[in-house]
Amino acid sequence: MALSGAAALCGAAAPPPIPAAESLDALARKKGLRFGTAMPAHALADAGYSALIARECGLIVAENEHKWYVLRPSADRFDFTPADRLGAFAREHGLGLRGHTLLWDRDEYGAKWLPAHDFGPRPRAAAERMLRDHIRTVASRYANQVDSWDVVNEAVDPATGELRATVFGKLLGPELIDICFHEAKAAVPGAKLVYNDYMNFGVEEATHRQGVLKLLEGMKARGAPIDALGVQGHIGGGVDPTPVARFSAADQRDWRAFVDEVRGMGLDLLITEFDVNDRAMPAEIARRDAEVAALAKDFLDLMLDYRELKQVLVWGLADRYSWLQGTAPRADGLPKRPAPYDADLKAKPLREAMAAAFRAAPERRTWA
Ligand code: G3I
Repeated sequence: MALSGAAALCGAAAPPPIPAAESLDALARKKGLRFGTAMPAHALADAGYSALIARECGLIVAENEHKWYVLRPSADRFDFTPADRLGAFAREHGLGLRGHTLLWDRDEYGAKWLPAHDFGPRPRAAAERMLRDHIRTVASRYANQVDSWDVVNEAVDPATGELRATVFGKLLGPELIDICFHEAKAAVPGAKLVYNDYMNFGVEEATHRQGVLKLLEGMKARGAPIDALGVQGHIGGGVDPTPVARFSAADQRDWRAFVDEVRGMGLDLLITEFDVNDRAMPAEIARRDAEVAALAKDFLDLMLDYRELKQVLVWGLADRYSWLQGTAPRADGLPKRPAPYDADLKAKPLREAMAAAFRAAPERRTWA
């Protein structure tokens, strides 16, 4: 069919914008949920992407700007510039702000100077002081804006299920995690405090899941002030050695057993970093997008069934901002399509799958 008038001049007609009442956050809110995305400070310069985030989301999380390696250029100096710019964007657009993370307990993703830092003659006390000071300083700064913090991220070693042997882990021992949560609670008593990790479904993830359960059980038994588990939700093999293209019945059963245990501890749940790694999926875009959407829908339907699930955040709203582009490339070298919007900011079947999952979700009490 021949195009006419303006459509012929402009090429393919742009799809009509999604009405505000149908944004992913609006659909989520109808069920007591919130929807958001990770955003890096450099994306603030991208007007189209920023506008898309403002339209679709109810909250953002700083992709890297709350991490030690950005906030702490040296042991005695903080730099809040990029984090504050994201905070200002959120405020300007009426978006909530999540905090990620007060401690990413992996030395390779921490402050560059930390592994060689001299903690002096009483290293344990000095390390505890530094950690408490960091948490108090950062959490207090955003006390009026951040309503939930990933207090600790990825402390469990997926290979062993034990806590990782990091700079702080070695100096403070198993008390490390409780120290972080108690300090965060003292600094921002009204914020929700979250342990965040990438344990996933699949038999090869069993040790990681068990390790996380052991950590959470210990925290609850000792009275550490934790409110929720952040399930990162990098599905499809996001950070795993093996790509996973489907959510089998056996995997769903095991995953439910894991989530049931978390719920049994009285914890709420968040999906904090959702995306679908398509590296094991077909090259053809229509088929690939359909498989991404189907896997997402299976996972989200199961998770949304839990009324303890309070927020869903994607780790990038559009493919062009996905960390997966630079991680474990596809064998055919094609760009990945892990996000709800493509590189040209066009909505994909994944967006529709997420909207459908929110529409089908049971209502829940919002996170106070
Ligand atoms: O800012 C520098 C830039 O100056 C330099 O030119 C460039 C060259 O490589 O690197 C830039 O820093 C990169 C930074 O992202 C900002 O883009 C780092 O190398 C890169 O390692 C960093 O990756 C981030 C990664 O965490 C490590 O912090 C990803 O963007 C971010 O998506 C990823 O997020 C993590 C979550 O925090 C925790 N869960 C897993 C998730 C994915 O790995």
